[in-house]
Amino acid sequence: MLSKKIEKALNDQIRVEAESSQIYLAMACWAEVKGLEGVAGFMYSQSDEERAHMLKLVRYVNERGGHAHVSALKAPNVTFKSFKEMFEKLFEHEVFVSESINELVHIALQEKDYSTHNFLQWYVAEQIEEEAMARTILDKINMIGNDKGGLYLFDRDIQQLTISTAASESPE
Ligand SMILES: [Fe+2]
Ligand SMILES: [Fe+2]
Repeated sequence: MLSKKIEKALNDQIRVEAESSQIYLAMACWAEVKGLEGVAGFMYSQSDEERAHMLKLVRYVNERGGHAHVSALKAPNVTFKSFKEMFEKLFEHEVFVSESINELVHIALQEKDYSTHNFLQWYVAEQIEEEAMARTILDKINMIGNDKGGLYLFDRDIQQLTISTAASESPE
C-alpha cells in the first residue's frame, strides 16, 4: 500500500512524463515541418518512450492500491530558433527530469517505501542513458555548426540512432 505522500509524488511524476511526451511530440512536428525527417522520427520515438515511462508509473500506482491521476498538462513550446536550440532544450529537460526522479527516490527513502525505491531504480538508470544520449547529440551538433552538408548527414545519422535504440530495448 502506498502512503499518501508517495502516491502524490508518483502522480506528480506521471504528469512530468506525460508533459515530456508532449514536449517531444511538439519537437517532432517542428522538425517534420522543417523537412528534417530523421530528427522528426527520433523525436516521435522519444515521445512514445515518455508515454511508456508514464504508463509504467500509472500501472505501478494502481497496482499498489493508489489511484493514478490523469491530469491537465502544460502546453509545450512548439517553435524553435534552430535545431541546435531544440536539442539544447531536450537536454535541459532531461536534466530536469533526472532531478525530479532523484527527489522521488529521496521521498521513497524518507517514507521507508523500499518497493517504490526498488521500482524507481529503473528510472534512475534510464535517466543516465537519456542524459548521455542528449549530450552525445549536442556534441555532434556543435561539430556541424552551420554546415548544410553536415546537417544532412546528421539527419541521416540520427535515423540510425532511433532504429538501434528501438532494437536494443527489450519489451516491457
Ligand atoms: Fe521519461
Ligand atoms: Fe526522457
